[in-house]
Amino acid sequence: MRIAMIGTGYVGLVSGACFADFGHVVCCIDKDAGKIARLNAGEIPIFEPGLDALVAANVKAGRLTFSVEAADAIAGADAVFIAVGTPSRRGDGHADLSYVYAAAEEIAGLIDGFTVIVTKSTVPVGTGDEIDAIVRRVRPDAQFAVVSNPEFLREGAAIEDFKRPDRVIVGLDDERAREVMRELYRPLSLNETPMVFTSRRTSELIKYAANAYLAMKITFINEVADLCEAVGGDVQQVARGIGLDGRIGGKFLNAGPGYGGSCFPKDTKALVRTASAAGAPLRLIETTVAVNDARKKAMATRIAAAMGGDVAGKTIGILGLTFKPNTDDMRDAPSLDIVPALLAAGAKVQAYDPEGHEAKALLPGVAMKAGPYEAAKGADALVFLTEWDQFRALDFAKVRDVMRGKVVVDLRNIYKPGDMTGTGLEYQGIGRPRGD
Ligand SMILES: NC(=O)c1ccc[n+]([C@@H]2O[C@H](COP(=O)([O-])OP(=O)(O)OC[C@H]3O[C@@H](n4cnc5c(N)ncnc54)[C@H](O)[C@@H]3O)[C@@H](O)[C@H]2O)c1
Repeated sequence: MRIAMIGTGYVGLVSGACFADFGHVVCCIDKDAGKIARLNAGEIPIFEPGLDALVAANVKAGRLTFSVEAADAIAGADAVFIAVGTPSRRGDGHADLSYVYAAAEEIAGLIDGFTVIVTKSTVPVGTGDEIDAIVRRVRPDAQFAVVSNPEFLREGAAIEDFKRPDRVIVGLDDERAREVMRELYRPLSLNETPMVFTSRRTSELIKYAANAYLAMKITFINEVADLCEAVGGDVQQVARGIGLDGRIGGKFLNAGPGYGGSCFPKDTKALVRTASAAGAPLRLIETTVAVNDARKKAMATRIAAAMGGDVAGKTIGILGLTFKPNTDDMRDAPSLDIVPALLAAGAKVQAYDPEGHEAKALLPGVAMKAGPYEAAKGADALVFLTEWDQFRALDFAKVRDVMRGKVVVDLRNIYKPGDMTGTGLEYQGIGRPRGD
């Protein structure tokens, strides 16, 4: 099959490279000329494990190309994917669909012969109808079908998730698209990946319902962590104790500083807007959003409390700034709430993240360091904010040596209370008894 991928970001680039690896011929298109130039020079503009080798192999095999020019790729495509951003609209939390609609207009002008237009971007229910209407208005003669095919990949494990997904969701109202979608995903039938066909609207809802549920699950365990602290309990053990129940499941039960990232914050807010506009409010998700926002803000106070209540003039070392490990993505990372609050309270902040290069511009006033021990050097407190693997086996005798103070706040429960016994460090995790 010939595929045009509109939008070459975290989703478009991974999907494009994986479809090429399935054997399809893919052109990834982006209006960001800098990004396309880097890709054409053999550089990968994002950090995603394994992506460099996958892209290089498929470019070499002649199945994967990159362009700012959409015309040829769209005209020759069996399927055109829309994988552009759908960020929160400023002010009201609705999904900003301007990029999706602009892409639909462009596609409409260029398709040639029967073409399946596939929305991979996360879009509110009814967006497929709108795309359909746009294409029909621009090209009343065009032969096309608009399909919803939401993406569930996780940054940091994106290739594995794309190639071995739990399921593929395809929402269509035009039967002509079914065979094309089956053909696109045929390699997954070897693993017997469930392919779930629904109506287009249902498919759009599935994506939001999935993300909202996961965000709610994280928020639930975060509140249980607070309860554990208040009454004396260990959230890790509570999570294990409930997670072994097959009806609950152990994933997404790690207490932390509140969810962030490029999807959960914006998707929960957009779903809340959609539901209230439809007269069917999702009060659980409204509460999830409010609790999570408050939690991220409360983390700076928690760090200050561990340091005696006042951070003015004190130095805080932060380990990890991206919203999770194995990505360079800084969108809505908890660090963007926590670090400015610490700076505003008068702290000096020095930080290290292996891939969060954008943090330098996003967090002015933070001294970026070259490694974990450099970030700890001279610090009154050391804070774990993202659980990168390289933070999991630090030499705490060395950490104690280079630090000025002895407070360690672990907002990801990377370590256990007691792991630092004998080092002289004062350890505090989330939702567990304190160590010493
Ligand atoms: N990032 C994730 O982990 C993830 C997972 C599942 C779903 N999604 C959804 O996928 C969509 C894309 O997310 P992302 O993280 O890849 O975004 P991104 O910002 O990394 O990439 C979007 C790209 O689209 C390009 N673009 C915008 N308009 C364009 C146009 N008209 N023509 C060509 N290119 C255009 C931008 O320049 C950008 O490179 C969003 O709806 C998101 O919610 C993201």
